[in-house]
Amino acid sequence: MDCCQCQGIESKFDQGYVAEQLEMYREDGPKNTALQLIEALQAEEIQGFTLLDIGGGVGDLQHGLLKTGVKNTINVEASSAYLAACKEEAEDQGHAEKIQHLKGNFVDIAEEMPSAEIVTLNRVICCYHDMPQLVDSSAKKATQFYGVVYPRDIWIIKLVIQVYYNFRFWIQGNPMRIFVHPTKAVEALLRENGLVRHFHRNMGVWQVAVFKRQ
Ligand SMILES: C[S@@+](CC[C@H](N)C(=O)[O-])C[C@H]1O[C@@H](n2cnc3c(N)ncnc32)[C@H](O)[C@@H]1O
Repeated sequence: MDCCQCQGIESKFDQGYVAEQLEMYREDGPKNTALQLIEALQAEEIQGFTLLDIGGGVGDLQHGLLKTGVKNTINVEASSAYLAACKEEAEDQGHAEKIQHLKGNFVDIAEEMPSAEIVTLNRVICCYHDMPQLVDSSAKKATQFYGVVYPRDIWIIKLVIQVYYNFRFWIQGNPMRIFVHPTKAVEALLRENGLVRHFHRNMGVWQVAVFKRQ
């Protein structure tokens, strides 16, 4: 993983940061947006499906969906600390054997990845500079559903991200940046890949959406 953004991801999502996220997950459960995405997917017939979760973090989507019918999951994660946390949590929850963990930038390994009935990117698109590559290559892997949580592209959110987050990264010398990619461009790419918007909800800074293959 030699891209600047991936180096920034390793340094932002380090052991200290991830340990806090895991503790929060253990105390409070999945974040609201993850819960919403889990519920939207559970409303579909997903029993026995495989989930490909890109940038799964501590694995909140995977743990949640494995408990309610998904057969197994593949976790592709660019952060070593998050990968280790997801493994640890899967062992604690008793379904370690159902998750395959792969460390890397999904865009680099997409061609070798199998398809899955469900592909998810929960707060991941905003952490990657090359949105077209990430969305296009992941959309091609989704045979039924594509679930995504990403920032709404409104001016106030763009401003806060530039001024508060990206300025701080710059000061800290971290090459990572957060991106508010245009919703129209994300949705157009998904449409080109045969995925039609099936569920959508705005939740503060975030939008939660499920696309369905036609
Ligand atoms: C803000 S965190 C979100 C983690 C988790 N999905 C959640 O919502 O709590 C962004 C995650 O995306 C991962 N990520 C970003 N770009 C990636 C890529 N190209 N390939 C794999 N993982 C990626 C990061 O390593 C990190 O785990």
